[in-house]
Amino acid sequence: MGLYAKYVLPTLTELAMKKEAVQAERVRFVPKATGVVLEIGVGSGLNIPIYGGAVRKLYALDPSAELLRMARPRADRASFPVELLQHPADAIPLGDGTVDTAVTTWTLCTIPDAVAALREIRRVLRPDSRLIFIEHGRSTDPGVVRWQDRLTPLWRKVSGGCHLNRPIDELLAQGGFQVSEMDRGYGAGPRIGAYLYRGIARPAGTGPGLR
Ligand SMILES: C[S@@+](CC[C@H](N)C(=O)[O-])C[C@H]1O[C@@H](n2cnc3c(N)ncnc32)[C@H](O)[C@@H]1O
Repeated sequence: MGLYAKYVLPTLTELAMKKEAVQAERVRFVPKATGVVLEIGVGSGLNIPIYGGAVRKLYALDPSAELLRMARPRADRASFPVELLQHPADAIPLGDGTVDTAVTTWTLCTIPDAVAALREIRRVLRPDSRLIFIEHGRSTDPGVVRWQDRLTPLWRKVSGGCHLNRPIDELLAQGGFQVSEMDRGYGAGPRIGAYLYRGIARPAGTGPGLR
């Protein structure tokens, strides 16, 4: 890993993800998490203080040792137990059906194989569980999409792998999720990176008595 990825990128990530407009998006959905929670790509832990009192335990997963180090003080201050897991999302070290809520915020853009990760998230979720997501991705405006497609190859190199143009709703479906609530549209900032998909999805085909 280069010096940029090891020392500069984690600090830039935390600065970008700490912005007021981003925090405002978090508080709409993150407090809905309940029970045993798995956060995928926890980063520097900016969601940790936002979780509500219904969280029993948080598994905070991220492959980056540097970002998990930044998350540690937030984890130590939480009112529920937090276990930091240094793993990628396509290899979650938890048993099948052990998680009540999974959370991803601005992470599906960066995971190399997001569909494989979603299938792995589905594996660890209970049948009646939920995935809470706030993700940026492919816009519905052809003019914006053109620029998202053009700039993604370069953007990936400087941002640690982030894609500007992923169709988050399609990825969720391919990963075995059914969206039950979604609010799509532009958040704050340049349109190319601000088209947001926020909502809740459930493991598809796992209603009561199924699976
Ligand atoms: C833009 S940051 C968002 C961090 C955090 N979710 C937040 O809302 O502040 C993207 C995160 O995805 C993580 N990530 C990258 N590859 C991953 C993978 N294969 N599995 C899980 N997380 C990954 C990065 O380490 C980083 O923490």
